[in-house]
Amino acid sequence: MKKLLSFLLVFALALPAFANEGMWLPLLLGRNYEDMKAHGLQLSPEQIYDVNNGSLKDAIVSFGGFCTGEIISNQGLILTNHHCGYGQIQSHSSTEHDYLTDGFWAYEKSQELPNEGLFVRFLVRMEDVTNRVLDGLNDDMTEDERAKAIAEIGKTIAAEATEGNHYDANVQTFFHGNEFYLFVYETFNDIRLVGAPPSSVGKYGGDTDNWMWPRHTGDFSMFRVYADKDGMPAEYSENNVPLTPKHHLPVNVTGVKDGDFTMVMGYPGSTDRYLTSWGVKEQIELYGPAVVRVRDLKLEIMKKYMEADAATRIQYASKYARVSNYWKYYIGQTEQLQSNHVFDKKQAIEKKFSTWVNADESRKAKYGEVLEMFADAYAETNKSVTSGVYAREAGITGPELALQGLRFGRTMKAYFQAKGMMEASEDEETKTQMGDRLDAIIDAMKANGEEFFKDYNPSLDREMTAGLLELYYNDIPKAQHPEVLTAIADSFDGDFKAYADSLFASSFMASKESYMAFLENPVDSVMDADMGIALGEGMYAAYMGANDNAEVDDKLEKAYRLFTAGLREMNPNKNYYPDANSTMRLTYGTVGDYDARDAVHYSHYPTSEGILEKKDNDDPEFVVPAKLETLIKTQDYGNYANEEGELPVCFIHNTDITGGNSGSPVINARGELIGTAFDGNWEAMSGDINFEPEIQRTISVDIRYTLFIIDKYAGAQNLIDEMTIVTKPVKRGSWFSRIF
Ligand code: ARG
Repeated sequence: MKKLLSFLLVFALALPAFANEGMWLPLLLGRNYEDMKAHGLQLSPEQIYDVNNGSLKDAIVSFGGFCTGEIISNQGLILTNHHCGYGQIQSHSSTEHDYLTDGFWAYEKSQELPNEGLFVRFLVRMEDVTNRVLDGLNDDMTEDERAKAIAEIGKTIAAEATEGNHYDANVQTFFHGNEFYLFVYETFNDIRLVGAPPSSVGKYGGDTDNWMWPRHTGDFSMFRVYADKDGMPAEYSENNVPLTPKHHLPVNVTGVKDGDFTMVMGYPGSTDRYLTSWGVKEQIELYGPAVVRVRDLKLEIMKKYMEADAATRIQYASKYARVSNYWKYYIGQTEQLQSNHVFDKKQAIEKKFSTWVNADESRKAKYGEVLEMFADAYAETNKSVTSGVYAREAGITGPELALQGLRFGRTMKAYFQAKGMMEASEDEETKTQMGDRLDAIIDAMKANGEEFFKDYNPSLDREMTAGLLELYYNDIPKAQHPEVLTAIADSFDGDFKAYADSLFASSFMASKESYMAFLENPVDSVMDADMGIALGEGMYAAYMGANDNAEVDDKLEKAYRLFTAGLREMNPNKNYYPDANSTMRLTYGTVGDYDARDAVHYSHYPTSEGILEKKDNDDPEFVVPAKLETLIKTQDYGNYANEEGELPVCFIHNTDITGGNSGSPVINARGELIGTAFDGNWEAMSGDINFEPEIQRTISVDIRYTLFIIDKYAGAQNLIDEMTIVTKPVKRGSWFSRIF
């Protein structure tokens, strides 16, 4: 027995440490590749990332800049999350066509719905340009000068990369200003909605289950990329055709097992893994609670109006979801930063850093002041972080009228200036040209109004304005009140309801009729006197003012740049990864369960049975559509059940993802699609600041549940038919590349 034990121990030690933590740049997989192979990967690095031949990266898109999607057919079919397509599904919905409630399916391409403003972006290539950027910098520069120089050099590099082609490019900063990479993209703008399950599938469990495991949600929707007949990006046109992609992911329906290799490629938005203990403390005590306080009120008001009226429910569905998602996020983050002892973990790192720095004179010269800089800077930000949150949450993005007023006012100001110039001009030709341009501005503002008022309820916004301004006034010390707030309180004797009543009664911005009437006959004095536009300008100034502390920003930026560089120097053998910044990353790990807390163990997959266990048709979050219930009760699972006859709905794996990764493909060892990532788990809500290897999990929809819904529930066989379905289980060692 003892022998066996020691044998096992040796064996266990021989396994390489599994680096499931980390969002790696696809270009730089070198240091991870052996590790990935040891854990099952069967692809070559070139099959993952290659600039000359089709590779996995060519099947991954940034979806609108805020989510990720994957191409799953040779006709440009995109799979992403339901919550990523939610805004589009919502915008096509009305009380007559309620796609949110009923779902939407295009049974032929002519039924697919265009989405103005939506784009997807393919990564053409990336390149390390660190040396070129660093050559243009020197140690005497202030952080501000540095930032300006980086922006200049970045612009030059990007301009070179896009000369003579139709690509977009940018240079982005990594490791807090220590490394720089160029990204070249191809962007497509004709993206059509193809399919979405009802919210009772795509958002099953609602806010209650959001950010939690176990999950029973079919969080997916489908779109399609269109291009012109030559395969080039083009604005929407009836003549456009589905894009033939360089690569699409085959779909493997044989399922996942505990311990299986998985990788996720996508566009994680932002993480703060280098945050210091000071930053953690500020987050726990000030930032998170402030966001939650304001959003509590926003949600309460929206909910009241949505429950009272069906049209408002549809109008505000996407707005509500956006607010509530990160409302719950910050509740969880605050809680878990504490229960996972992240402050202590960060302090331990800083202690080591300090010992390392003090052991050597040259290190002292370079890094000796870093920790003190953090202490000083955070002492300052502590004083203003709460008012900064309020200026954003209750101010510029609080009353909808504020942001709308700001944008409208700015555009129209430019309009009136141009109009003045036109009138002063003597040249007839100039006059006509400028007149055309002025007409175009008016048309654009009319279209903007159509869009804004389509999803706008002025009574709701009036109550929101009164409530948020009052909260802002009461929660933030007087000395930190922005001018606009003080002025309103003074003129209305602290009665914010009276202010809101007067604002909504007088502003032409508050109703579609008066807004359109203004555009028929724009008069600048009317605009200058408008209370809605004044609120927008005032809140914008408040927002800029609350977040304007150049000296502290400089100090923090410099401290983080040095601290990050120092940590990497201190641990030369550790493979550090850069924080997420909406650039393409790859993370890998294995499928596996976890212990949530004392005596609570969560297994790695839930099944359709659990959908019925959670069912409560009196609770809008847990309604189960009758057809789905019947399919489950009769176990009519088609080809999508597992060997036990169950229909797995989701699964968890220990890959490292964050917001922005939503919709990312979960890919098996052979490069086939097995799921779609959509969330993280509650116990690791602190994960954007500190990865928790034992408990942090990615939550993904099992591709079999997705196909079951498309096929058995929606009967959209047309979509199944265009996919490349793999029905053979993954065999290790069998080199397969049907698609590459
Ligand atoms: N928490 C998920 C994310 O941010 C979104 C899940 C959407 N579902 C929901 N019930 N709101 O990626």
